[in-house]
Amino acid sequence: IGTTQLPLSVATYFRVNGKDYLVPMALEEPSVVAAASHAAKLTHPEGFSASSDEPIMIGQIQFAGVKNISGAKRRILQSKQRIIKIANAQDSLIVALGGGARDVEVRILEKMLIIHLIVDVKDAMGANLVNTMSEAVAPYVQELVDGKPGLRIISNLAEKRLARARAVWKKSAIGADTVKGVIDAYEFAKLDPYRCATHNKGVMNGIDAVAIATGNDFRALEAGAHAYAALKGYRPLTKYYRDRNGDLAGEIELPIAAGTVGGITRSHPVAQVSLKILDVKSAQELAQVMACVGLANNFAALRAMVVEGIQRGHMKLHARHIAMAAGARGRLIKKLSKIMVTERRITSSRAGELLEKFRRIRKRK
Ligand code: MEV
Repeated sequence: IGTTQLPLSVATYFRVNGKDYLVPMALEEPSVVAAASHAAKLTHPEGFSASSDEPIMIGQIQFAGVKNISGAKRRILQSKQRIIKIANAQDSLIVALGGGARDVEVRILEKMLIIHLIVDVKDAMGANLVNTMSEAVAPYVQELVDGKPGLRIISNLAEKRLARARAVWKKSAIGADTVKGVIDAYEFAKLDPYRCATHNKGVMNGIDAVAIATGNDFRALEAGAHAYAALKGYRPLTKYYRDRNGDLAGEIELPIAAGTVGGITRSHPVAQVSLKILDVKSAQELAQVMACVGLANNFAALRAMVVEGIQRGHMKLHARHIAMAAGARGRLIKKLSKIMVTERRITSSRAGELLEKFRRIRKRK
């Protein structure tokens, strides 16, 4: 029935593996973009180093209630090449590009046989390709298994498609107290899932925004990130420690299944423009930049909480929305938010009071 719009912003100062990027972010919170940019600026002149795995995704095919489960497993593994051939017959383009199905793995979960189809999806996010291939191979696999196929679907736990980034924030730039405070905050997240969920939310703030700007499926990224974080008990996606100079080193590792082709990346005008602004040559490069944004946003949130509390910076940038929600329109929005920021009283009630005041003045005129 309509569309909903989000502001499109550009985060700056992202230097990744020596290359400077402008990073488009689509989200309603301007403070996230400002925070990412500031955190990235503080890594200069070195910037971030990043790496990412090949874009390998997993398709799962389920067989429940299998009788001779180890025999079925053996037969499937013996027929690997045939399964891969059937999968690759579904998409000649991906094969021509050097991608396609690469391997077959079999897992036994109680009485269930789960086949993993391992697919190199090249520059796509990969869901359509992997789902098509998984559905296509299922009837053949059925001949090898005494049972009917159940689900045939991609796994969003893209553990073979990890992206990593690292940055150092110098003690001289952020202060010794901040170095200590950020490390303590990380230790808190490590010890406590209640805190860890919020810690990881701060990581995903920026990653999701880049995903939305570039037309990627942010729900898939969310699912993958949190499932990965939970693989060995729920853990932070980032870690912090003092390097040998006493500076703060930060690292991130998480699955990033994001593409530069496929889905709406090449059809949605904003996604097209965003990818142009980003100037990435591949999905792997995109994943590296996204990992850096996740690390930057996480560091920025921890630093803000350690130094002054999160609300000050956030509310400053949120003042316009508060003014609008209170009923301000046109030039009054800027006027009200400016006063509230100067007074450091950025609340709905203050916005209401100021609005009343301006309305009274206008009436008198
Ligand atoms: C808010 O959008 C994100 C934070 O809650 C993240 C965190 O607590 O680390 C500030």
